[in-house]
This record gives sequence, structure tokens and C-alpha cells, in this order.
Amino acid sequence: MMKSVMKKIENLDSVGVPAGDAFISDLYSLKKDAAVSCYDPARLKPSEIQEVMIQKSVPLHSQKYLGSSQEVLYHTFRERFLEAANTLKKTLEAMVVDGCDITEKELLSIIELVIKDIRYNTQIIEFLKNMRDIHDVTYSHSLCVALICYVYAKWLGWDQKDRDILVVSALLHDIGKIKISPKILEKEGALTEEEFEKIKQHPRFGYEMVLDKNLDERIKNVILMHHERNNGSGYPNHLQGEQIEPMAAVVAIVDAYDAMTRNRPYHEGICPFEALDTLNNEGNTKFKYMYLRVFLEQMTYTYINEEVELSNDIRGRIIAINDHELFRPIIVVNNQLIDLSRARDLQIQKVIC
Ligand SMILES: [Fe+2]
Ligand SMILES: [Fe+2]
Repeated sequence: MMKSVMKKIENLDSVGVPAGDAFISDLYSLKKDAAVSCYDPARLKPSEIQEVMIQKSVPLHSQKYLGSSQEVLYHTFRERFLEAANTLKKTLEAMVVDGCDITEKELLSIIELVIKDIRYNTQIIEFLKNMRDIHDVTYSHSLCVALICYVYAKWLGWDQKDRDILVVSALLHDIGKIKISPKILEKEGALTEEEFEKIKQHPRFGYEMVLDKNLDERIKNVILMHHERNNGSGYPNHLQGEQIEPMAAVVAIVDAYDAMTRNRPYHEGICPFEALDTLNNEGNTKFKYMYLRVFLEQMTYTYINEEVELSNDIRGRIIAINDHELFRPIIVVNNQLIDLSRARDLQIQKVIC
């Protein structure tokens, strides 16, 4: 058995063993950096290994959980997330292509599957931060936005019914992209004006797709209005302020945050602190500030204890958030405290996942 496993690995040149030094020592010439998979093969005898699944080109993204009690939970969450993104794809395509009906309950069950074993809400945010390598622009993006909205609605103190409607809205918000060519959606580099005009039609396409469906009106309005901006600079109808469905204003914030921070095949997402700062700078004009303020505060606090790299390339750990300047927290570097609200020449350039 070991022989065939080794042969397979040599051929594919990529295998991963997050917790298996003993296993690694048995398998020579491994490119560890290009590896993932296998929960804990070190605890298995070779005769117990039935199959080794090898995934190429997936970075070793979850090192921070290795050996911790979170490791298995993170891997389970990640696997369920990928499975759920696939279910979402099939469900939405069946609705759009085959005209099948869709219910809010059915969509909520997709989310429930992913968060089944989650112990506390911010653990969802924490795990998603380590999954920025997943970059399909429609389904995993929508699932990610929906999971963040699930936590965000609790931060906002909304009741269960409203939270459910928000989550379903987030799952469906980009459904109109089904009608846009993948060549445009996944294009590397800048879009032409014509291509951008095409993309800007997805809220309207999506709205038309759900118009005759038995869904809450707010869900339909989120699909239509999630790219509208408070100052009328959005699309497709240049709505302003109170004209915009409040749930669409909430989804807009998470949508923008996820789009800015997610890695794409052709570029890395921007540092989350830069993304939060950008949202803050646009807060009074583009986004509804009463919602944005809660998002910025709560999201920033989820970064306490994260390892970060500063603009002088030195690494440290965030130990406290400055209430007067959320995006310039206090960092500990080699037992020394650096208060970024005072050390103005330094900024966070990267969060290490
Ligand atoms: Fe969109
Ligand atoms: Fe989106």
C-alpha cells in the first residue's frame, strides 16, 4: 500500500500532512509548501491508509491551527464550506436554468450545514479569514458574504426572522451573475468600459430572475440594490439614502469588504486593515454609517491576537484596539509595545494567516 501511495506522490509531486512528521519522514522529496490535506496521518498505521487525496496548488493556508484544538474544526468548516458552495451553485442553477422553485428554508439549510459545529459566532469570521484563497466570484463569494452577514446581524441586534432574511439575501445577492459570461467575471486585469457595463447589469438580471418567486420582498430588493450607494453613486438606479432597502445597505458593506480582501488568481486581496480603513473613509458618503460603524468596530475586534506584519517588515501581535483609532491598534513586538496611534510612521501591511 505504502508503495503505491509513494508512487502517486512522486508523480504528482505534492502532498500534505499538517500533523504528521513521522509520515513525512517515510515519504521523501516532498514539496511541503505546496501541500495540504490529511487530518492526522501520523496517528495511522500505513495499513490503515485506504487512499491519499492529493490537491495540487492549494497553499498550506491553515498553519496557525496546526496542533491546536481548532485544527479539526477548521478543516471540517472548510470542507463543509466548499460542499455548501457547490450545493448553492446547483440550487441556483436549477432555479435559473430549469425554473425550479426555491425556498428560504432550503437556502438557510446550506448555511446551517457550514456552521453546525461552530462554538461561537466570531469563530466563523476567524475561519473565513484563513480561506481567502477560495476565489470563485459568485458562489463561494456569496456564501462568504452570507456567513459574515449571519454574524453581523447579531452584532446589529436583529431578531431571528430579520437575520434569516438577511442571510438568504446575501446568498442570492449576486444570482444575476449567472447571466454574465465567466470570461468577463474572471477576466485578469482591467475590464473594458463595455465589459463593466455588462457586469453592472447583474443586479437587474438577478431581480428579474426572482421576481415571480415566493420570496420576501426585501430579498428581491437586496438583489436589485446591493450596488446602490448612499450618495447616489451606485448602480443600476442611482438610488440614494432612504430609497435603498436597509438590508441592501448591510449586504453592500460586507460585499465590498469581501471583494477587497479576497485573493484572486491574478492579485492578492488587500490587507483587511486597509479595507476597513477604506470603508471608513467612504462611510459617510457611500455607505450607511449607522451600519458601517458597527461593522468596523466589531470586525476590528476580531483581529485581536492576530499576527501582523508592519510596514517596516517586522512582525508582531495585536493585543488591543484603540477605540479612538480603530485601525491603528496596539501591537506587541518582541515583548515591546508599539501603539500605532502614536507611531504614525508605521502601518499594518499584512495580517498573517
Ligand atoms: Fe454584486
Ligand atoms: Fe457580491
